[in-house]
Amino acid sequence: MLEGKRIVLGISGGIAAYKVADLTSKLVQAGALVDVIMTEGAQRFITPLTFQALTKRPVRTNIYDDWLGEDTGHVGLAHNADIVVIAPATAHTIARLALGLSDDLISAVYLSTRAPVLIVPAMESGMYSHQATQENIRTLTKRGASVITPGEGHLASGATGIGRLPEVPEIIAAITSTLGKNGPLAGKRVVVTAGGTHEPLDPVRFIGNGSSGKMGYAIAQEALYAGADVVLISGPVALTPPPGVRTMHVTTASSMEAAVRDTVVAADALVMAAAVADYAPAEPADQKIKKAGETMTISLKRNPDILGNLAEIDLPGLVRVGFAAETQDLLDNARQKLDKKRLDMIVANDAVASIGSDSSALTLIKRDGSVEQLPPMPKQESAKLIVKRLAALLTESEMPRTPNA
Ligand code: C5P
Repeated sequence: MLEGKRIVLGISGGIAAYKVADLTSKLVQAGALVDVIMTEGAQRFITPLTFQALTKRPVRTNIYDDWLGEDTGHVGLAHNADIVVIAPATAHTIARLALGLSDDLISAVYLSTRAPVLIVPAMESGMYSHQATQENIRTLTKRGASVITPGEGHLASGATGIGRLPEVPEIIAAITSTLGKNGPLAGKRVVVTAGGTHEPLDPVRFIGNGSSGKMGYAIAQEALYAGADVVLISGPVALTPPPGVRTMHVTTASSMEAAVRDTVVAADALVMAAAVADYAPAEPADQKIKKAGETMTISLKRNPDILGNLAEIDLPGLVRVGFAAETQDLLDNARQKLDKKRLDMIVANDAVASIGSDSSALTLIKRDGSVEQLPPMPKQESAKLIVKRLAALLTESEMPRTPNA
């Protein structure tokens, strides 16, 4: 996602400036071209040489340096940028941006650029909470900038409170989603389910399956990168939710259904990648079940079919994508599910090869009957393609329908 992207990174004078060296290194490692610009204050905390060494590019500190014409100064930087990131953004820098000043490089680039802008405030909590700073942040947000809420915890002042620079992975996630502001899912709300479900037998045991959640998590991440506002409804899995994605943790099929119902009403698309248990113990025991005879019989009851039940509900404009993990008659079974659950697309895969694995060979079947066979590829790559197809389905669903069609 960051490969070849031109990032202008404005560093202003807060103690968190030292943490931005790590951010810069990670961005460069991800393939980005990072042009660092620093305020006078930033250079008191960390030297330009650090960033020059990390980026292998000149670091600019003065609006009057290198001024050989429009293309070499702040105007060139601003025009060539794919994104402008200001981290840390001090109260002072935020105020000058809100005022529209342009007497330093950061403010001049901010005014000149038409690329998306991400502001990462970091300061003492009193300064952050002050009405002046909050109003300035609101002004910048209203004008289209993305602003990350700082973290809470230990501050350099010795106090504990809000104002910490968010962790590097969180900033990188915000950079990628801000880059996606012009992406194919910009402005869309996408709900993704992932992982298996656990259906309790007693307080310590459950019936579950081996779904790792990798596919759903990868789709959530790619949808975020494509600009969507993403809700991930996750069963119990050993994965860290992608930063920037709103994650709801659920355990059983019933709790997953409740979460889907709550979120889908405001969504443009639902991608049900979760491997939901079809049955649950009919009467889970209150206490741990003691072992007794040589065999044991457990009575099961049907779980709600989340997608199946949604088929009965009119949610105009909602694009629905399901998965079919099969061990036999893959395409026939998948087509039947597509019809029965009234889906726009179904992603068919071989259950044995795919569950828990890092790669998959998927077949995408759309409601119009078209079939696309994808070659085996890592799940992150398949997720990228699924998100691309999802974006196309969303565009189609927006097109005015011809009468009688
Ligand atoms: O019918 P089957 O379980 O094979 O259908 C798979 C699709 O339906 C998947 O998208 C899965 O997430 C969804 N599903 C569901 N509720 C269930 C079982 C599966 O929504 N109880």
